[in-house]
Order: sequence, then structure tokens, then C-alpha cells
Amino acid sequence: MTRRIALAASQLPERNGRVLVESHGKSLAVFNVADTLYVIDDSCPHQGASLCGGRLEGRVIQCCAHGLRFDLASGNLLNSTALKVNCYPVEFEGQQAFIVLNDEEGGQ
Ligand code: FES
Repeated sequence: MTRRIALAASQLPERNGRVLVESHGKSLAVFNVADTLYVIDDSCPHQGASLCGGRLEGRVIQCCAHGLRFDLASGNLLNSTALKVNCYPVEFEGQQAFIVLNDEEGGQ
């Protein structure tokens, strides 16, 4: 079963911006990279630091804590599959954007 989180206009980041969304007990970091939205858990799989404030280069986010870099599209550590941050697809219905949560990924 999947659940969706509707994003209000204020939760949509501007082009090349980012917004932290708290919903369904999750902290999600929403990035807009060249008008494509990417959503990941705001928790680094290394030691749990926030990724929302990390350094963004293209669609690669670098964790501020120890510098690991993750591809926003796959969630994978760059050039590796050793670590992965959960990432979530975004669906649109007209102008309304939804984050799609897969219940298998630890939701309640
Ligand atoms: S907590 Fe992110 S790199 Fe260590």
C-alpha cells in the first residue's frame, strides 16, 4: 500500500532550492534541481546528520557531517551501493504535487 503526502505551494522549493517537510512522522528533504523535484529522508544513512542543509552540486547532495555524497535520484552513495538514503518519487496531478510513500519503507 502506498500513501501520498500532498505538498502545499509553500512546501515546493524554488528552482535549485530545498525545503524541509515534516509529515507522517518523517522529516523529508525536498530538492528542486533544474525544475525536477527529488525527495529523500532528511537523515544521512551514515550517522543520521541532516541532509537538507548539505552542499548541493547538480543532483548530488553532500552531507555536512563527514562529506559523503549521495545521488538524489537513486539515493545511493556516489559510485557505490554501500549506503543508500531512502528516496521517494513525486507525482503530479495538474499543479498539485504528491510525495509517494511506500509503506514497506518503515512507515506505520
Ligand atoms: S553523518 Fe553524513 S557523512 Fe557521516
